[in-house]
Amino acid sequence: MRIIVCGMGVVGQSFLKLLISSAGNLYKNYGIKPRVVACIDSKGIAYSPTGLDINEILAIKQEDGNLSRYKSSLLNSDNPIEDIDAEVFLELTPTNLSTAEPGLSHIIAALRSKKNVITVNKGPLALSFSSLIELSEYNNAMFRFSGTVGGGTPVLEFAKHCLKGDKITSFEGILNGTTNYILSRMADGLPFAEALLDAKNKGYAETNPSLDIDGDDAAAKLVIMANWIMGYKVTLKDVDKTGITDIDPEEFIKAAKEKKAIKLIAKCNNKELFVKPIAIQKDDPIYVNGTLNAVTFKSEHSGEQTIIGKGAGGMETASSILRDLIEIKQSMLNYRTV
Ligand code: HSE
Repeated sequence: MRIIVCGMGVVGQSFLKLLISSAGNLYKNYGIKPRVVACIDSKGIAYSPTGLDINEILAIKQEDGNLSRYKSSLLNSDNPIEDIDAEVFLELTPTNLSTAEPGLSHIIAALRSKKNVITVNKGPLALSFSSLIELSEYNNAMFRFSGTVGGGTPVLEFAKHCLKGDKITSFEGILNGTTNYILSRMADGLPFAEALLDAKNKGYAETNPSLDIDGDDAAAKLVIMANWIMGYKVTLKDVDKTGITDIDPEEFIKAAKEKKAIKLIAKCNNKELFVKPIAIQKDDPIYVNGTLNAVTFKSEHSGEQTIIGKGAGGMETASSILRDLIEIKQSMLNYRTV
């Protein structure tokens, strides 16, 4: 299975490490022999049609910060994403919620050249969900994005595959780990600025943390879930969004007296699509602390289920890419044998 990895940050590097450590398991259990034929970062491309030396790629990236030293095979192309032969294209560049670029153009180029695509980049899905799904269907290419919501926790797969035949009528939950960590610390009495600094020091918050604290990251995940799980056609601008920067510290004291806690809640039903701080009961299943995410789904016949897990992290998110890769391989095999 030939793979192109585009984006060599924490998630890209974690994925390559995971490929090395799970090579035996992947072949034995799923018949997958991954061959990474290209790694693309902001400085250039490492390319080999017979497969790159992943250990060397990781070492060079670690030492130099980019891949330009790698001795690549000759690649005569101005459009490498389209022209390199591969079964799967991984789009792992950072999320941009203003224009979705460069991820959006990368995904379009890959789908147009009939490659299956896996992404953990929320921007393209939050801004252009329907057209990307249409493009993938038109080109008969699979498009998977499990890691965009919940990091390594299979939130999307749970809703899509484990509740088959039932109808999810609404869901609500905590979709952003950084703000959940900050709110947990504020409930312990820490002022917002110190809680934010703590989250930054621990490496949870983004370099520009406004994506987290203004609620944009949670809103992007809500849009992806509303489209994929509920079949809605919504984008970021349809979300009624409030971040966590203006919460009065008195609210935390009031909530604690009522055995409640303030959480940044994302909610979707047939009337509401919002992200905002809400005081929830401490015995609510979605009451989780630290960087955990939690989502409760309400279904017509099976009632309520809650899924809880780590919502971020390089290796956790890489594990979701591996799940998508296995699913693509299995679909390819089924297609061939039907
Ligand atoms: N900044 C995000 C969070 C990362 O804190 O949840 C995972 O999408």
